[in-house]
Amino acid sequence: MSAASRAEALRAEIERHNRAYYVLDQPTISDAEYDQLFLELQRLETAHPELRTADSPTQRVGAMPLPAFGQVAHRVPMLSLNNAFAEEDVAAFDRRCREGLGVDEVDYAAEPKFDGLAITLIYESGLFVQGATRGDGTTGEDVTQNLRTVRSIPLRLLGHDSPARLEVRGEVLILRRDFESLNAQQRAAAAREFVNPRNAAAGSLRQLDPKVTAQRPLRFFAYGVAQSSHQTPATHDALMTQLALWGFPVADERAVVSGLKGLLDYYERIGAARAHLPYDIDGVVYKVNRLADQDRLGFVSRAPRFAIAHKFPAQEANTKVLAIEVQVGRTGALTPVARLEPVFVGGVTVTNATLHNQDEIDRKDVRIGDTVIVRRAGDVIPEIVAVVPALRPQGAERFDLLERIGHVCPVCRSRVERLDDEVILRCSGGLYCPAQRKRALLHFASRRALDIEGLGEKLVDQLVDTRLVGTPVDLYRLDLAVLANLGRMGERSAANLLDAIERSKSTSLSRFIYSLGIRNVGESTAGDLARHFGSLEFLLAADEEALMQVADIGPVVAASIRGFFAEPHNIEVIEQLRDPMIGGVHWSESEALPAAGTNVAGKTFVLTGTLPTLTRERAKALIENSGGKVAGSVSKKTDFVVAGAEAGSKLEKAQQLGLNIINETQLLELLT
Ligand code: IVH
Repeated sequence: MSAASRAEALRAEIERHNRAYYVLDQPTISDAEYDQLFLELQRLETAHPELRTADSPTQRVGAMPLPAFGQVAHRVPMLSLNNAFAEEDVAAFDRRCREGLGVDEVDYAAEPKFDGLAITLIYESGLFVQGATRGDGTTGEDVTQNLRTVRSIPLRLLGHDSPARLEVRGEVLILRRDFESLNAQQRAAAAREFVNPRNAAAGSLRQLDPKVTAQRPLRFFAYGVAQSSHQTPATHDALMTQLALWGFPVADERAVVSGLKGLLDYYERIGAARAHLPYDIDGVVYKVNRLADQDRLGFVSRAPRFAIAHKFPAQEANTKVLAIEVQVGRTGALTPVARLEPVFVGGVTVTNATLHNQDEIDRKDVRIGDTVIVRRAGDVIPEIVAVVPALRPQGAERFDLLERIGHVCPVCRSRVERLDDEVILRCSGGLYCPAQRKRALLHFASRRALDIEGLGEKLVDQLVDTRLVGTPVDLYRLDLAVLANLGRMGERSAANLLDAIERSKSTSLSRFIYSLGIRNVGESTAGDLARHFGSLEFLLAADEEALMQVADIGPVVAASIRGFFAEPHNIEVIEQLRDPMIGGVHWSESEALPAAGTNVAGKTFVLTGTLPTLTRERAKALIENSGGKVAGSVSKKTDFVVAGAEAGSKLEKAQQLGLNIINETQLLELLT
């Protein structure tokens, strides 16, 4: 084979693997094999420079640094979209479209609104020749060299019907999972972390040195065509399909919907899936589907009449740190919490955010009085992403946790200790500390532990503060007269609470172990322990070595379990809880074996293929949070195989073994 045809074959093969990895998310070869092909092509091109083509994958590693970006005048301006925040805005949009077109119902193409950077890509005779940022909409920056390094941008269009000229519009962004690893790398290199995927993408695209951009995990998604010398299809939807056939990534979540109801249903659906999407989105975009209708509706000033962005509540907002306080958690961990000027973010008003620990405060350099970016995504606890240094007032006060609390627990004044290789400070007071006692009681009564409905935070505060309850044992000593005396409960709710306490006596071994609140023993480990030892007596008798026989239990967990049971006070509480004359908590040993709790606890899952909304990490986290396990390969011991699109050999094996095969919906049902 001649060098020329070998180079051509290598180019085609490498781009095919690029596409499989970056566009289709279905890698076809190992990294090592890929590197081998790449190296071979690089060597060939060095030996025969005339074989180096503009669309060669070797051109994706980054050209020479530029002194500055050139300017590009957009042939078709890059406009913006009008925003809809409420249903009324969407209803008004739909009405304007119907009236403008003189029809009763309009079909819309609906798609996610990517939270990245708008760019335009120009192809001549199928070859990528220029790419630019939006700039002011009329003139942008020439970032061609940087865009060449983005593996999901085709350097040559697929297929044989390339238009003489094509201008594609879309968004450059960083996937969430890549953002996490990028920041992990930054941390490891002691470099500044990025605030969010959008900023990281913006910073990466505007690097003058394309070699830096090449190291950043940028992705591209197409959402439209500005100009094409080809005849365009009749609908936006068909246009997107055409883009996909040319090799551009397009959003999987696209849909064609009818009328206002269709739009609002789509908004709901994507809103619910938002947290599980691979990328950040800040809303959805509705576009009149028929391109001829788009032309008829036209533009008003800087935005199209035929499209609108329906925004989600922002997940990030700026606010001020009013104070930093210290909270004591169930295991005594002292956590600094920022009190914030109330701010509406992620659909709720946020008034405080955890700062995790002193290291985190130092790393982010958060000071009292600072303006900070607060993030609340989905149901997660609000967190401070970064400080806005430009808005720091003079004399903004630094915070030092140890200094603030005078080296003692702010609740019980016990000594504060820092365990080896932990960044966290802890109160050493254990259950002597009312704060820890309250947390321990709430944990004991929580739904996945002994499940005492009605025993909430306020009541626990009161029971502990009035010294009616010190340990969980005391809960079983409560009666109507005592509760009535508290003066805050009606007789009815007091009776209900006593009922719930009574019901909690009949439980399972795994719940009981979990309810003790042993550090590092979550629901899943409690289930493992219950199954492995089968009885509390065996567990109590186990030394660290025996504990480490349990899968997933290492020296740290084993030591905290031993430490807990070595404390005579803890043993006393356990004995009293089980004493039929005092606590009366019981379970049947055999029942302990299949880890009661949820359908999922103790079950082994294998994930295969691409699930419609959940990423693999997310699915794994959900299963593990419910006490299940996720294994890498299918065996007779697998309880469920969760299969998505393009599931391969694991699915085949599961079928051969006659295992339970479920889809994402069934998984989510199991988890609820
Ligand atoms: S269509 C005339 N579709 O939103 C403008 N834009 O305000 C047509 N964006 O900066 C834009 N996802 O980069 C369109 N699916 C999508 C989009 C999208 C994100 C961005 C776009 C622009 C901004 C418009």
